[in-house]
Amino acid sequence: MHKQKNIFLIGLMGTGKTTVGRQLSRQLKMDFYDSDRVIEERTGVDIPLIFEKEGETGFRTREIAIIDELTQKKNIILATGGGAVLSGDNRNHLINRGTVFYLKSNLKTLIQRTSKSKNRPLLHADESVEVILQRLLDQRGPLYEEAADYTIETANNSIHNVIQAIIKHLQ
Ligand code: S3P
Repeated sequence: MHKQKNIFLIGLMGTGKTTVGRQLSRQLKMDFYDSDRVIEERTGVDIPLIFEKEGETGFRTREIAIIDELTQKKNIILATGGGAVLSGDNRNHLINRGTVFYLKSNLKTLIQRTSKSKNRPLLHADESVEVILQRLLDQRGPLYEEAADYTIETANNSIHNVIQAIIKHLQ
């Protein structure tokens, strides 16, 4: 079976999935979805409140359902939440239903881009953002690599260059 012409963006928080996805959608004239935003629209509350009320487990259950639904669409660009790859079902849907781009960044850049974020409950713990992000990178790095068709460095790369790199791979 041919893969649908979907573009799926994976990677840690702060790698630029949403910014890149939105701009890419304008350029390629494809619909853009951000799985976190869809979850927020459906529930009517923001991600931190979902984590507060239902825990990470509740959030992941919602995320699995939304990713299954969104990856069945055609000709879309989807920015996934950083933890989407933790689920084997999500990884399979992403791999089988589109072309997967891993947006990869170094730790220093991720810290800079996420340190002021109020919308990312996993970063608000007793540990420093640096320790948390390093752990997530260690845990998830192999999963991102496993799911990805292509890996694109976003740390020392302009959004324009990242988008050009994605388009080049699609040709
Ligand atoms: C998460 C990343 C967030 C969001 C949630 C959990 C994670 O998405 O899904 O806070 O587990 O890394 P972004 O990667 O878009 O920030």
